[in-house]
Amino acid sequence: MSYTVAKGNQRVDPDQVAEAGKIPEGVVDLRSDTVTRPTAEMRRAMAEAEVGDDVYGEDPTVNRLERRAAEIFGKEAALFVPTGCMGNLIGIKVWTHHGNEVICEERAHVNLYELASMSAIAGCMPRVARGEDGVLTWKQIEAVIRPKIYYDSQSALVCLENTNNMAGGTVYTTAQVDDICDHAHAAGLKVHLDGARIFNAATALGDNVAHMTRKVDSAMFCLSKGLGAPVGSMVVGTKAFIEKGRVYRKMFGGGMRQAGVIAAAGVSGATARRSGECQATGGGHCGNPGADD
Ligand SMILES: Cc1ncc(COP(=O)(O)O)c(C=O)c1O
Repeated sequence: MSYTVAKGNQRVDPDQVAEAGKIPEGVVDLRSDTVTRPTAEMRRAMAEAEVGDDVYGEDPTVNRLERRAAEIFGKEAALFVPTGCMGNLIGIKVWTHHGNEVICEERAHVNLYELASMSAIAGCMPRVARGEDGVLTWKQIEAVIRPKIYYDSQSALVCLENTNNMAGGTVYTTAQVDDICDHAHAAGLKVHLDGARIFNAATALGDNVAHMTRKVDSAMFCLSKGLGAPVGSMVVGTKAFIEKGRVYRKMFGGGMRQAGVIAAAGVSGATARRSGECQATGGGHCGNPGADD
């Protein structure tokens, strides 16, 4: 065996994955909310999805999902992307230039688990700070902003993660996010939110995601985790941001054709969530019906 695949602390021989992936009847798999399976309703929606070529902007189901995501987040526009990693990289790429620094918590997914794509592809350096329980304060962020000197690399972007996965799913309150955004904007920095599990944070806070993200410049959230869809994430922001993001999605190999087949599960997930029907099998929290919109 020349490599291992890993999930958390678990290492699995790829040849044995098929065996290891089988969960005995009646056992709830709590390794991750990424092991959630699509509901029967999602599978039906996928089979019946109306589709077109999304690279031409002609897939009605993708367009519907993007409109719905923008609406739920109170943003101008949204973009369907294959993965959360690509969504975060698009956010980073749009808001930075090669040679910039991206400030994030040291346990952030963008720092640890995205294959250094912010460096390898976007040409940026992560500049990390440690927040108590993974939650940064403006003071901690301010301390790592580089001085405006021509021979220093320049800070361009703050990337927050709500919930913070590796800190144990800790939550930024909306007041904390707002405070960081206000200060970051005053300092000339943009703020991207890795909201892979933003709906868990919304549930914990009893808040809605439009309010929680109203000051961030862009946000990514995953359909494929607690929401139970098999594939996909969304990026939300202004029309201008999404226009640029669409170009980078294609450049990163994420332009999809009849993507309505997978987008349909996301549309169905949003509906199921509203009515409290999500059947996640893993660590996702699916309650709080209707709290997100
Ligand atoms: C906080 C966080 N952000 C981003 C991602 C990336 O999502 P994906 O696996 O869809 O690329 C993950 C995946 O687990 C995550 O936990």
